[in-house]
Amino acid sequence: MIEEKQHVFYLTTVHTSYWFRVTAHGQLEHLYFGPRQIPQDPAAVAFKHTAQLGSTVAYDESDVSYSLDTLPQEYAGFGRGDFRDSPLIVKMADGTYVSDFVYEKYRIVAGVVPSPTLPYGKASASEADTLIVTLKDQVQDITLTLEYTVFPATDVISRRATLHNHTEQTLVIDKIMSAQWDMPNLDYQVHSFSGGWASEAHHHVQPVEDGTIVLNSLTGASSNRQNPGFLVGEKAATEDTGWAYGVNLFYSGNHESRIQRNNQDFLRIMTGINSQGFHWQLAPNSDFETPSAVLTFSDAGFNGVSHHFHQFVNNHVVPAHFQQRERPVVYNNWEATFFNFNDKKLFELAKQAKDLGVELFVIDDGWFGTRNDDTQGLGDYDVNPKKFRHGLRDFVTQVNALGLQVGLWFEPEMVNEKSRLYADHPDWAVRVPGRQPVLGRHQLVLDLTRPEVRDYIVDNVSRTIDETGISYVKWDMNRHLTDMYSAALTEQAEFNHRYILGLYDVLRRIFNPRPNILLETCSSGGNRFDLGMMTFGPQIWTSDDTDPIERLDIQQGLSYLYPLSTISAHVSSAPHQQTLRDTPLSTRGNVASFGVLGYEMDLNLLTPIERAEIRDQTEFYKKHRALLQFGQFSRHFGRRPGQFLWQVQRGDQAIAGFFQQHVPASPTYDRLPVTGLVANTLYTMDSKPQRLMIDRFGELLKHVTPVKLDPHGRIMTTASRHLSLPDAQEHYVGTGALLATGVLLVNQFMGSGYNKQVRMLGDYGSTLYCIQPAAEAHDD
Ligand code: DGJ
Repeated sequence: MIEEKQHVFYLTTVHTSYWFRVTAHGQLEHLYFGPRQIPQDPAAVAFKHTAQLGSTVAYDESDVSYSLDTLPQEYAGFGRGDFRDSPLIVKMADGTYVSDFVYEKYRIVAGVVPSPTLPYGKASASEADTLIVTLKDQVQDITLTLEYTVFPATDVISRRATLHNHTEQTLVIDKIMSAQWDMPNLDYQVHSFSGGWASEAHHHVQPVEDGTIVLNSLTGASSNRQNPGFLVGEKAATEDTGWAYGVNLFYSGNHESRIQRNNQDFLRIMTGINSQGFHWQLAPNSDFETPSAVLTFSDAGFNGVSHHFHQFVNNHVVPAHFQQRERPVVYNNWEATFFNFNDKKLFELAKQAKDLGVELFVIDDGWFGTRNDDTQGLGDYDVNPKKFRHGLRDFVTQVNALGLQVGLWFEPEMVNEKSRLYADHPDWAVRVPGRQPVLGRHQLVLDLTRPEVRDYIVDNVSRTIDETGISYVKWDMNRHLTDMYSAALTEQAEFNHRYILGLYDVLRRIFNPRPNILLETCSSGGNRFDLGMMTFGPQIWTSDDTDPIERLDIQQGLSYLYPLSTISAHVSSAPHQQTLRDTPLSTRGNVASFGVLGYEMDLNLLTPIERAEIRDQTEFYKKHRALLQFGQFSRHFGRRPGQFLWQVQRGDQAIAGFFQQHVPASPTYDRLPVTGLVANTLYTMDSKPQRLMIDRFGELLKHVTPVKLDPHGRIMTTASRHLSLPDAQEHYVGTGALLATGVLLVNQFMGSGYNKQVRMLGDYGSTLYCIQPAAEAHDD
């Protein structure tokens, strides 16, 4: 809800309030962002400037205590006495960089104001309201529009800024952030999610000190180095208590967020397009629109912020036809075959995948042109006739007849020098004339700023989708942007942003008319895991690293910002491709089940007992899929380093997971809380049965079998293909209130014997628990 009273704007969601006002001098003063309040006189929470602070510049000689340097603002100008970072640096019509935007007018509209070019949160007129405030420069005919869309039910406010040039001169924008606000610092810490290829989105915490914390990306993508989303929370905040703010950005390119503490212990927070290497020529009578930023607040800790973000993404970000639509269990052939496959080999895999409970079969890289390794073929879309002797349509029909949908991998933004496309259009590749371009994965980037290049991609990808009858696309992008130049541009520092606008144009044109195609985006794993991409594809390939122990960090990091329905997670083979880590199949399945489950391994090499375990995993997942994909996900405090406690809850059902990266000797007790249930309803909590593969125990098997067996002998080798041991079976009963305090689990194995009440976890062990009302029969 949005109200205005005496130049104070009150933005209210179910649990939060966001207030600002127009000062006597025309600036927008930020007043409050916190727990919901009834609109009232804001004087009590407004920053006081009753005395003139030393070393400040008075904005107006008649009011010397009013300085822009100390005023908490909504969107500061430049060069008028505010010496903090400005969100807006523009070469104005008079050739100076001084800007001073003051209030002109406002209006409120029902719903969202659509953007023709950039992604944004969608809502009906009854689900959101938008406040549009127009500011005008004190002397020049340049206006700045600040839009605030309030999504009350999900406690999210999205903001964006648009600069309008009404002058006769071309302006040059050096920096234009989507949102900025200033607030008192309550001993805050910044939580960011950074990493690299195969180790994305690790959670990092740093205190806010004097100076500025900068979180950004310069790779041309939102990047695996620094996710655009971050949190600012009280030092004492926990997963469930304390104040925390969440910020994210609908943008898939270079981004920049700054958290700056000034000498008055106020924080200035801003986010938007990265200003490094960015200059934008704003012609007379034209506008520049920023991407939308997303803000939320919770006084219920980091889980509170995550719950707001998760609901927002599920209800307002992913394409409408995929909101709450359950996602299929996928099999992807990449790690099984890489480029070395043909229709026969794939069909064998498809038959086995079907038998294991998979629903969608994805043909990854290598199906077209001369793409037999990663040095060639990108850009050409004709099916390789040696690999698909009867064409792709025929293969898709055959796999469909097995009862599986089929998906196809594309990397449409790229070209190899060894390709027909490059031979025909070398000028379509991004490179600086006269300079040898640098390659990433032996490939060049196509110039998406050019309409003819975009048309080529739209035509070819659309045609392939329509001709083959597939129902899923994996849209990959495997290198960073370098050598930024386009013959189509006069200002080369517009390249990066125009590339992203071109990408959004292509995605919109291919996928909007094809709402039944499930789009999974990918960029060497999670190099473009952002809200912008989610508006086109509801799930993202999270990381090329499918090792569940690494994935615990990656998926937990992403869970602060994004719901499980967006986190694509596959079970792969062990020892693992990237880490050589040998992990139990149960843990690989348990970690991937907290996401959109898939499999990516050579199914020919599975033992009968592994097949049985995978069949049970897919059956369990499908039974609880709505809960696992769309339930409310929460993290709990793990007592030991490397312990991860996750849960999803929906209505009267919950699934909780206990995961450990390492086991200490003689482990102390383990505690697993389950929250969100009805306090005085009685629930049962049962461990999901899972197999202990006997080859993991080697000589230790002597403790559980009456006969002594050689762990390397023929009997054991054969037996381990067919036999397994059951893990501990746990059963607890308690009210919602009791389970929330934390269930103390049975002991872990510690070398003192094995019985049915000992959890055999070891390093990399995990268990899932199903929670349901006590009256219901449980057959998991
Ligand atoms: C990178 C992706 O992340 C992988 O899953 C796979 O699709 C390869 N590209 C194929 O080249």
